Order: sequence, then structure tokens, then C-alpha cells
Amino acid sequence: MLGKLRFARRFASFEYDLAVVGGGPGGYVAAIKAAQLGFKTACIEKRGTLGGTCLNVGCIPAKALLNSSHKFVEAQHEFKNHGVICENVRADIPQMMKSKKKAVDGLTKGVEGLFKKNKVTYVKGAAAFSGKNELTVNGTDKLTAKNIIIATGSEPAALPGGILPIDEKNVLSSTGAMELQEAPKKLVVVGAGVIGLELGSVWSRLGSEVTIVEFMDKIGSGTDLEMGKTLKKILEKQGLKFHLKTKVTGGEVGADSVKVNLEGENVPATMEADKVLIGVGRKAHTEGLNLEAVGLKVDKAGKIPVNENLQTQQSHIYAIGDCVAGPMLAHKAEEDGIFVVESLAGETSHISYETVPWVIYTHPEIAWVGKTEEQLKEANINYKKGSFPFLANSRARANHETDGLVKVLTDSKTDRILGMHMVGPAAGEIIMEGVLGMEYGAASEDLARTCHAHPGFSEAIKEACLAAHSSPIHI
Ligand code: FAD
Ligand code: NAI
Repeated sequence: MLGKLRFARRFASFEYDLAVVGGGPGGYVAAIKAAQLGFKTACIEKRGTLGGTCLNVGCIPAKALLNSSHKFVEAQHEFKNHGVICENVRADIPQMMKSKKKAVDGLTKGVEGLFKKNKVTYVKGAAAFSGKNELTVNGTDKLTAKNIIIATGSEPAALPGGILPIDEKNVLSSTGAMELQEAPKKLVVVGAGVIGLELGSVWSRLGSEVTIVEFMDKIGSGTDLEMGKTLKKILEKQGLKFHLKTKVTGGEVGADSVKVNLEGENVPATMEADKVLIGVGRKAHTEGLNLEAVGLKVDKAGKIPVNENLQTQQSHIYAIGDCVAGPMLAHKAEEDGIFVVESLAGETSHISYETVPWVIYTHPEIAWVGKTEEQLKEANINYKKGSFPFLANSRARANHETDGLVKVLTDSKTDRILGMHMVGPAAGEIIMEGVLGMEYGAASEDLARTCHAHPGFSEAIKEACLAAHSSPIHI
């Protein structure tokens, strides 16, 4: 393989075998894998640091703040139940921000180190197409590549009609909401999706009065309805307020406060807040790429159209991650990148979008893979369901973390697992059992007959699987 590539390069007229535009989880993983497979690879990133949205202003800072704010809640309210007495507990938010920055800096520099180790050329700057195999960086420097991957990611979406435009002062995107140095007294969050629930939880834990306004009748975007309802009840107990089936019709931004106009049943016509967080989705970022120069256009949703091989209409130009259709998740972007690079190297590769896991890192976490009950009903698929509550799980009992349940959905004829859903302790970790099971076509009986370590949260999965195909033991 390596020999073939080196031979080809001697006669190629391009500087690089592969140029990757964007150094997020899609782009940097693709670049490293390509270099490992022997391609001469460049990755162009305009942010000044590697890691994209995820490491800089997404997954990592959000998880750092979720973890720090959860520790604060535990020290305030929960440690005493375990016999650990903390007095005069208070939150040092600037220190939490520093701790978050340390995690971000360490990881972004770590990716730079991986580039060096794998001999990926890191080009700092904004890339634009200036030819089918040519990119111009910062309007001046040019580089050529045989193949190009567009991995330019996404950015926060705004409310339609110019309502409450994001200024990162009073009206915040997720980026601004992770930079506050003190908790706003009142925070209105527009959108009960992933960002709304995670960052709403952070600021609620740190003392803000948080109200989440959502125009659907459920929270958590793609969640199974029953699980979304379960999580909503738990979050309400934690102090979050929800206005579902409610539309934001307008707003006014003052010097230090924001007025939000609402339309819905049993909701106030206006709400006053110190800050508003807009969490109504993200849109693909393709600005400045000069796609027209290579005859490419974005679709109605602003995404780059690709075929099943993730090729654009120019077969040597690929697009991956948040800037194409599919879940906007870091691990999905990574899978896209590996798939393209392995395919370029002539290796057999595949991605199963059916088994991409979702995790919302509230406390407890909600996680799922595969189909929801609503999707199975809509597709007229006969299914069986097995559930098991964490209240009956010994590890959860020992830890006093008994909120939530595991639900497994199986094909009623074959017992094959079609979906797994959970709200509960470490749900974001143990969901991987369902992912792996589904990836290998497991039946619920397969998981139920697998020996699980005791006491463990994952025993709730075993019991839910027992409930799906025979009977659970511990309830
Ligand atoms: P990105 O990470 O957006 O990277 C694209 C990069 O391309 C950017 O760095 C950008 O600067 C660069 N770029 C764009 N245009 C150019 C150009 N012309 N030239 C050079 N560079 C360019 N996902 C999860 O899976 N788990 C989570 O817990 C999670 N939490 C999140 C929390 C928040 C608050 C947010 C906002 C997102 C979160 N996500 C999470 C989503 C995740 O961050 C994205 O799905 C992921 O980053 C997408 O990766 P990507 O490589 O496609 O794009
Ligand atoms: P989202 O798509 O998850 O949720 C947006 C929510 O806003 C939806 O429930 C939608 O109905 C609602 N909404 C849209 N317009 C509205 C309006 N005008 N008024 C009221 N509600 C409205 O998008 P979100 O939360 O912004 O996150 C963007 C993406 O980032 C996610 O889809 C996810 O892919 C990624 N992400 C992933 C995380 C994770 O994996 N843990 C964490 C954070 C973000």
C-alpha cells in the first residue's frame, strides 16, 4: 500500500495527496488517519487552534462546565447524605471557567501534537477553492491536492425573522453562554434541545432561575417520548422550568436585560431575563469556501449535498461531519472522516448511521441508540419492550442515584434489538453496550445471557433485556 502511494506521488503533479479543510473532529481525525495510511496530508484550519467546535466551543467546554457545576450541587446537597460534611459551599465561577479552559487548551494542543507525530501539515488560515484541485489560504498562499475533504462544520442558528439576534452580551449562543463569569439571575433558554438542556442545567445549578421555551411538545429533540418525559420530571425537580408548545414571537434587548414575547397555552405574554440563550439548532458553515469556483452548491438547508460515499458532485471532493446531512455529532463526523480516507486508500469501510449513539449530559444523563417507540409505530414495525428502573439496580441504590430507567425495544418476531433508551447514572457510558449489540445484530436474549459485573449500572440493561424476552429477576 505505502509503496504504491509513494510510486504514485512521484508522478503526481499535486503537492498533497489529500487536503482537509477544517480541523474539527471530522477533519483532524480524517487527516491523521490519512497520514497513517501513507497519504501526504495537509489540514487547513482558520480558528487558530485545532479541534473545531467540539474541542474549542462545544463538547469539551460544555462537559467541563457540566462536571464542575454538578460537583457544586453534590457538595451543596448530596455529600451530606454520604456522611461528607461541606460547610459554606460556594461556586467560584471564574475558577470553573479556568478549569474548563485548561481542559480545552490541553486537548487542542494535544491534537497539534498528534499532527506532528503523524506528519500532517497544519496550515493556519481560511481556505477557499481557487480551482478543482487548488485551495487558496488567507487569499494568498496556494496549495494543490489530488483529493479534498470539506469538513467546515457548523455554527449556531439564529431565531428566524431577526428576532433576538445573538450579540453574545445579552442574547447568547452556546459559545457566549460558556464564557459568563457570573450566573445571570434569570436566564431564558429558547429551545429544549441538546444545548438548552445541557447549558440550562449548568446555569440552573450555579444559581440562575432558568426557564426553557420550546415550540415542540417534548424536550430533547430526538428522544423517545417516554424517556423525554422522564427526564423532564427529573429536571423540573432540579429547578428548571419549561414552557412547551410555546413560540417566541419577538423580543426587545435593553442595556442589561431582555424582554421575550411568548405565544402558547398558560404562558406569560412576556418574560424578562438578564440573559437569553438561543439553542434552536446549528447550521452548516460553508461561508467563504468559494464553492461556486468548483461548481458546487449547498442544498436548501445550507448543507453540502453528497452521495453515499460522501462525494460531492466533484468526485475527488468529499464533505463530512456537520456540513453534510445527518446527526451533528462529533463521533459521527469522525466516522465520516475515517470512512472517506479508508475508501480513498482502497480499503473496505462502512458507517452505520443506524447505530450512532446520542447522549445528553444532564444529570442523570439521557442516552439512546436506534429507533424510538414513536418511530417504530410510524413504520408499522411490531416490537416488544422491556424496561427496568434504576430504583431496582443495586449499584444505583448504593450510590443514591436511582432516578431513571433502561428501555429496550426489540423486533417482536426475531428479538433483534431495534432501539435502546436510558435515563440514569452513567447512561452515556453504558449505552455503548446497546450500540455494540445493535452493530453485531444482537437479540435481547444475547445481552440478557451475557454475564454482567455486579454491582453495576449496566445490570439494568441485562434486566431490561430479560424483561423484553422473558422476565427480569430483580423486580
Ligand atoms: P467542527 O467541529 O465545526 O469543525 C469545523 C472547523 O472548520 C472549525 O474549527 C472551523 O474553524 C473550520 N473551518 C470552517 N471553514 C473553514 C475554512 N474555510 N478554512 C479553514 N477552516 C475552516 N457533539 C457530540 O458528539 N458530543 C457532545 O457532547 C457535543 N456537545 C456539544 C456542545 C455544544 C455547546 C456544541 C455547540 C456542539 C456540541 N457537539 C457535541 C457537536 C459537535 O461539536 C459537532 O458535531 C462537531 O464538532 C462537528 O465536527 P466537524 O468536524 O464536522 O465540524
Ligand atoms: P437541537 O436541534 O438539539 O434542539 C433545538 C430545539 O429548539 C428543538 O427542540 C426545536 O424544536 C427548538 N426550537 C427551534 N426553533 C425554536 C423556536 N423558534 N422557539 C422555540 N423552540 C425552538 O439544537 P441545539 O440544542 O441548538 O444543538 C445543536 C446541535 O448541536 C444538536 O443537534 C447536536 O447535534 C449538537 N450538540 C450535541 C450535544 C451532545 O451530543 N451532547 C450537546 C450540544 C449540542
